[in-house]
Amino acid sequence: MSMSIEVSFAKPAKVSGGLAVATATVSEPVSEAARSVDVSGQLDKAVKIAGFKGKAQSTMDLLAPSEAAVDRIALLGLGDPDKMSAHDWLRAGGKLVTLVGKSEKVTVLPAAGGQVSPEAAADLALGVLMRAYSFDLYKTKKGDDDDKTSRKVKLVIQHEDASACKKAFASRQAVADGVALARNLVNEPANVLGPVEFAERAKALEELGMEVEVLTEKEMKKLKMEALLGVSLGSVRPPRLAIMRWQGGKPKDKPVAFVGKGVVFDTGGISIKPAGGMEDMKGDMGGAAAVTGLMHTLAARKAKVNAVGIIGLVENMPDGAAQRPGDIVRSMSGQTIEIINTDAEGRLVLCDALTYCQEKFKPAVMINLATLTGAVMVALGQHHAGLFSNDDDLSAALSKAGETTQERVWRLPLGPDYDKMIDSKFADMKNTGGRYAGSITAAQFLKRFVVDTPWAHLDIAGTAMGSPSTDINQSWASGFGVRLLDELVRSNYEA
Ligand code: BES
Ligand code: MN
Ligand code: ZN
Repeated sequence: MSMSIEVSFAKPAKVSGGLAVATATVSEPVSEAARSVDVSGQLDKAVKIAGFKGKAQSTMDLLAPSEAAVDRIALLGLGDPDKMSAHDWLRAGGKLVTLVGKSEKVTVLPAAGGQVSPEAAADLALGVLMRAYSFDLYKTKKGDDDDKTSRKVKLVIQHEDASACKKAFASRQAVADGVALARNLVNEPANVLGPVEFAERAKALEELGMEVEVLTEKEMKKLKMEALLGVSLGSVRPPRLAIMRWQGGKPKDKPVAFVGKGVVFDTGGISIKPAGGMEDMKGDMGGAAAVTGLMHTLAARKAKVNAVGIIGLVENMPDGAAQRPGDIVRSMSGQTIEIINTDAEGRLVLCDALTYCQEKFKPAVMINLATLTGAVMVALGQHHAGLFSNDDDLSAALSKAGETTQERVWRLPLGPDYDKMIDSKFADMKNTGGRYAGSITAAQFLKRFVVDTPWAHLDIAGTAMGSPSTDINQSWASGFGVRLLDELVRSNYEA
């Protein structure tokens, strides 16, 4: 099932045709609004027989009651609406999508009591958009009965204060679009989305009033980004560094900075990965995708903040020109790195991007995102991203934003004992720390490039792609990080 849904809001009015979805609560499974479309009272009987209680995430579908003005009536259980969090409303919106079926017109009737806030109605709509996302660019068999890929659905949410809903929805639309952008970038195959093409997608955000600069290989050479450039040596496609700036705050305020790993494909390089599952490495730019999606959202909702997004875009390939184990490179910071394993490439891309970020922008805070290690999945599975930080306040703020958005993070330790594990015989450091604590030694590596800036690193290898589907995501790419960081900005850094 896939479709594109257009959401709008309207004052309660008589419904005709299509599907009517009545929100149901535990105190009132069949609301007045539901009865108003079900003229013959079949709903009350059906609800009784089915034992439908209006519990959260429960649904009931009544097909074509003969005298009704609509084709279908369905009930969407909310539980107790007074106890619903914003995320519960998103999940309800996701569930709502499962009721759409073949209807092309859907009307959501006001909940029992009519006490739903405009914000809650807008969250419901955001949940609808997130759940309805699908990536079917490369499916050519559209439009037949089994695959309604190109179908358009108009969904109207009825609410007494439709204009307040519409206002509340505007920033949610920006979030939905940012999440969809991040998902699209991760889902795209690497033959379509190389470093140059990714940078072009970032450049396209200029339309939203963002400043975007793209550095070429030549310019990065001048900046002495040998660590990043070393990863790119085996690829016939040149690297890029894209810098996105959104100036929504006071001109002099230091920006909040986001840095993303954008390895468009990670073969492992000369330390080549096994073949099984390697296709997933088209998603090794999930950090860069989250940063790009976030910047889209901030610009689209005109966030009152100065933000900068920096993404390092490379492809990690084996080749006669590729970097070797044993090679030593000099990073932009001046620190030297012995390459032990060419598959530990993400940290090499990030370290130069982090240095550039600090030297150029002196950010108030710097957060990087990366599908950095398989080890983070061993530690945390796919339900939390790994969080590493040199700042307890920032760490707490991220954890809180994670609870709010349910894009959860779990802090893991840093410390001198782990730091020692990446000392090198020949250079200042090596790019792997051995078999144990792989996510932590990767984070220690990054930390060596952070100078006096409150910083956090999110290892999203387990959460950005291939994670279990949820009520609000059915796609391989989740868009993880966009809502988390949008919430972080909203509650901590906006005027
Ligand atoms: N991109 C991978 C990490 C990864 C693995 C992301 C699985 C998503 C799913 C990263 O570049 C990598 O290869 N890391 C190595 C590090 C090792 C060589 C020290 C790993 O995790 O095995
Ligand atoms: Mn790798
Ligand atoms: Zn990688």
